[in-house]
Amino acid sequence: MDKMHKKILFPRNVIQKRVQEIACQISADYNGRELIVIGILKGAFIFMADLIRAMSIPCRVDFVRVASYGAGQERSGNTVLTKDIETSIKGRDILVVEDIIDTGLTLTYLVNWLKERNPQSLAVCAFLDKRKRRKVSFEADYVGFTIDDGFVVGYGLDFNEQARFLPEVYILEQE
Ligand code: IMP
Repeated sequence: MDKMHKKILFPRNVIQKRVQEIACQISADYNGRELIVIGILKGAFIFMADLIRAMSIPCRVDFVRVASYGAGQERSGNTVLTKDIETSIKGRDILVVEDIIDTGLTLTYLVNWLKERNPQSLAVCAFLDKRKRRKVSFEADYVGFTIDDGFVVGYGLDFNEQARFLPEVYILEQE
């Protein structure tokens, strides 16, 4: 990342406002119910922490970790779960929280995996959505921001484990 220049895409206040809006929408949609919110590690942890604290309904939390194998940044489609949930989701309302949807392969795999456990409902909330890069069609129920192609970091998203801690979202550009 040293030879990359990073340009700000979403500053803190813009992120905060949008997270609040999504949290209000989710709270209204699930009014009177308790959600089990499942975050996809590692990228979703910051967004999920902000999102659930902005919601006005109760929730429980759990996490999964998914690994994808392929050459470089391109996805091969070989997706495996390397950390499973520890909560029973049968008959429960589930909200899966992801940092970014790119090809759609991770969420397609994970949603199918979770649906086999017979939740009452399952919705997906993604902080960012790179719609144009899909390899499989996938629509999230809640999206923070739709972005064009390009690699973004910050607010949980990394480049080789760097930059997750940044409170803003940046787009990486070659110097
Ligand atoms: P998908 O299976 O191609 O949809 O991949 C989604 C995953 O790819 C995300 O959870 C991220 O880990 C990673 N990813 C895709 N695009 C970016 C990006 O621009 N920045 C950081 N991670 C990304």
